[in-house]
Amino acid sequence: MENIIEVKNLTKKFNKFIAVDNISFEIKKGEIFGFLGPNGAGKSTTIRILTTLLQPSAGEINISGFDLKKDPDDIRKQIGLVAEKIILYDRLTARENLKFFGQLFHLSKQEIEERTKKWVDRLDMAKWLDAQVGTYSTGMKQRINIVRALLTEPNILFLDEPTLGLDPQTSNLIREFIQELNKKGITILLTTHDMLEADILSNRIAIIDHGKIVALDNSENLKKLVTDKENPTLQDVFLKVTGTQIRDNADGKVAPSDMHRFGDNKNRVR
Ligand SMILES: Nc1ncnc2c1ncn2[C@@H]1O[C@H](COP(=O)(O)OP(=O)(O)OP(=O)(O)O)[C@@H](O)[C@H]1O
Ligand SMILES: [Mg+2]
Repeated sequence: MENIIEVKNLTKKFNKFIAVDNISFEIKKGEIFGFLGPNGAGKSTTIRILTTLLQPSAGEINISGFDLKKDPDDIRKQIGLVAEKIILYDRLTARENLKFFGQLFHLSKQEIEERTKKWVDRLDMAKWLDAQVGTYSTGMKQRINIVRALLTEPNILFLDEPTLGLDPQTSNLIREFIQELNKKGITILLTTHDMLEADILSNRIAIIDHGKIVALDNSENLKKLVTDKENPTLQDVFLKVTGTQIRDNADGKVAPSDMHRFGDNKNRVR
């Protein structure tokens, strides 16, 4: 199968802190690629780079045949992003939000209306379309947030923890929807801390830790890494390759009280 995303030796530094450390991987056209890792591992940073929101410190990235450094605009036309934080205006209705973002993407009025209707119907949000987003539950916001990401009809969809904080019903709806989109040919990069979700949805899974990819394969092969359990789960694999240490205090991370050691924080009041 043809690669739709190629990442070679990607590194991202914030001051001296290395958030993404020389990673390489490929995503095949039409696959759901699970991108897992502990808190702070570098998942969202990688997604921000692949979606042209952040400049890499080093490395080569090719998406749909376009070089990220040379042709970021061509890449933007191919992709949709459901970011970690929901990007919607609370004071606007869902319809107004979608119209606003549609116009930002240079879509025609007709395109915006047709696509809004199609996805809002599918995600069971039609009756709430004219209510202010600020009155929505998290699950309702996320469904409209996903519609927003689909307005440009992307070939590749980046989903950064799309089911975070959602109830089992909404999570289930979103998982089924991800599978439906994938069947229509959309390639998906999915991050999640829900190991069962990653296992069910992903064709292949990369596990990243401290900015480095520590495992990459399909779920069946990854589970072979766990030899001391009879029927290992993806969670067993995850803990085996990333360990059990809590990451918030991990080595290499700069605590706010250490920030003064870096040049641009010289005058920081502590
Ligand atoms: N703009 C920034 N400036 C400084 N450090 C940053 C910046 N963005 C991210 N980092 C750091 O880079 C590391 C990777 O962050 P990232 O958001 O990519 O993690 P993640 O894998 O998405 O984690 P989570 O599961 O918590 O969402 C973290 O230590 C984070 O604090
Ligand atoms: Mg993240």
